[in-house]
Parts: sequence; structure tokens; C-alpha cells
Amino acid sequence: MTLRNYSIRKRVLVTGGAGFVGSHLCERLIAEGNDVLCVDNFFTGTKDNISRLIGNPHFELMRHDVTFPLFVEVDEIYNLACPAAPVHYQYDPVQTTKTSVHGAINMLGLAKRVKAKILQASTSEVYGDPQVHPQREDYWGHVNPIGIRSCYDEGKRCAETLFFDYRRQHELRIKVARIFNTYGPRMHPNDGRVVSNFIVQALKGEPITVYGDGGQTRSFCYVDDLVEGLVRLMATKDGFTGPVNLGNPGEFTILELAQKVVALTRSKSRIVKKKLPADDPRQRQPDITLAKLHLSWEPSVGLEAGLKKTIAYFRAGKSSPA
Ligand SMILES: NC(=O)c1ccc[n+]([C@@H]2O[C@H](COP(=O)([O-])OP(=O)(O)OC[C@H]3O[C@@H](n4cnc5c(N)ncnc54)[C@H](O)[C@@H]3O)[C@@H](O)[C@H]2O)c1
Repeated sequence: MTLRNYSIRKRVLVTGGAGFVGSHLCERLIAEGNDVLCVDNFFTGTKDNISRLIGNPHFELMRHDVTFPLFVEVDEIYNLACPAAPVHYQYDPVQTTKTSVHGAINMLGLAKRVKAKILQASTSEVYGDPQVHPQREDYWGHVNPIGIRSCYDEGKRCAETLFFDYRRQHELRIKVARIFNTYGPRMHPNDGRVVSNFIVQALKGEPITVYGDGGQTRSFCYVDDLVEGLVRLMATKDGFTGPVNLGNPGEFTILELAQKVVALTRSKSRIVKKKLPADDPRQRQPDITLAKLHLSWEPSVGLEAGLKKTIAYFRAGKSSPA
């Protein structure tokens, strides 16, 4: 028996907790009465994102790189540490793979030592440029192993492998979420991701850059919906591991998104088309049947409502702790 059994509050570690999704997750976990340890190396995350939590006695912030081992006592681990936007993960691709793979090994090692439950933030990128549409969890994907996106895609695929091997070999309690495009307040304003890009361009009155013909589709999940899904997944019975898709199945073309952003910001920006980057997937849409069944989860925030909140955040300026 360990001393931690006497504590009523759960001690939850969130790696990448100062990032976009991680900061919303930390807030949610604190609001639910947990003690939260946020671990981040601030590569893409910022203290601004968690400024509301700093000073809260149940919140602790640790600057640490997950590619190095971590020794802490916790009950649950959400492993989110990893740059998610192509400009960030392609900046130092070797470090990206290390973050995914060594980070997973270190966090799984920690989970094994302290018998914690551990959730991996995986991604729809494990499906690559999918030949099956919409994507179900039993689809193995169509991924280029040597392209410019591979550091992220293959890193995340290897992390999933490690999670399942730790389960088979060490009976770890694991959960794997495959997250699809998520947006909302605290997205990095210059990370080139489509929603933040369009909003920032529209607010500045600059041309809105659509890559390719704009006919490629994406699904967009509002961050509060995603966080709800992650928390529900962590709470599932030990027998349920996933992988489980978390995303919004509503499908929009990139051009439709651009037009919506222009309309909602009342911007005078023009839409201009540019060459499609390498390995950009044509279509992405989650099949969320499994999440509905096992988590009783589905997104509740529509694109327009979510865009309005995100636009309000960007209008207020980056330092706003929305
Ligand atoms: N946002 C999305 O649409 C989306 C989609 C699929 C998957 N995901 C996954 O969700 C997680 C969070 O994504 P996000 O959008 O919040 O990205 P983000 O870049 O805002 O957050 C990632 C956080 O991890 C931190 N980090 C990076 N490398 C680290 C390291 N080596 N050690 C410690 N911390 C490190 C960053 O500083 C940042 O705070 C990521 O694992 C990402 O792959 C996100």
C-alpha cells in the first residue's frame, strides 16, 4: 500500500499542459477537484495559457522535457507533450520524433513505476492520407514513412505501438485517443494551422491563403468538446483502451471555412489560392461510433459557435486568458 491512497484528491499529470489543448484540460481537471501537475518545456506552450491557474494551491507547474525521465507520484497521466502544428513539428523533426517516442517511453515507464493510468494524445495523422473515408479506428492508415510529416505521423504511430506493448507486456492501464483537428482559444496565432491562420489573416485584413483548390475537407472539433472526450476516456473501465477517435464528424471544405471566417469577422480580406504542400491529406473525417458507444460522447459545439469564441479570443489579443 502506498501513502497516496490516503489522499482524496487524484493527482493528475498533464504533459504539454501549457499548450493549447493541455491548458484547457488542466483547467477542467482543477475544476473537478484534482491536484494537477503540468509538465511542459514551453517549446510551443506558454505561461499565458495557464496564467489563470498559477497560484492555485492545487496546480503545480514544472519545466521539464519529456524526452528525459520524470520521477513524480501521480495517479493518472495525460500525455499531450508534442508540437502539433506542421511548422512547429517540422522545425526540429528529430526532436519531434524523440518527443513522441522517448516521451512515450518515459511516461509509460513512470506509469509502470507508480501504477498510474495513462492516456496518450494520438492523432488522426496516424491514418496519413486515408484511402478509407470516414476513418474508423480499425483502419491501419496510409502513411509516408520518409516524408516531411513523417516525424509526427510515424512518431505518433510508434507511441501507440509502445502503449499497446506496455499493456500486453506489463498490463498497464492505457487509453489512446486519436484526436482530429481541434480549434479554439489559445491556439498559437502563427502556427499555420488553418483555423488560427484564417482568423488572424481576416482580423488583419490580409489575404486569406487557401492551399490547393480549397476543395480538400476537414472536420473541426471545438476544444471544450475534445477535453470532455479525453476526460470521459480516462474514466472508462480498465478493459477499454481505445484507440478511439475524438473529433467532430461535420465535414467542411477549406474554402467553406475561409468563407465562414470572413463572414463572422466581417473582414474585407480576399481569398487567395496557393500551391498545396507535400503530403497534405485530401480528406479527413472521424467515424465516432466507438466514442458514442463507449464514452457516450459526441461534440456539442457547432462550427459557427466555436469560431465565434475563437475569433473573440484572437480579437482580444494573445495574452487574454480565454
Ligand atoms: N490540436 C489539434 O488539432 C490536435 C490534433 C491531433 C492531435 N493533437 C495532439 O494533442 C496534443 C496537444 O496538442 P496542441 O494542439 O495543444 O499542441 P500545442 O503545441 O499547443 O501543445 C503541445 C505542448 O507540448 C509541449 N511540448 C512539446 N514538446 C515537449 C517536450 N519534449 N517536453 C515537454 N513538453 C513539450 C509544448 O510546449 C506545448 O505546450 C499533442 O500531443 C498533439 O499531437 C492535437
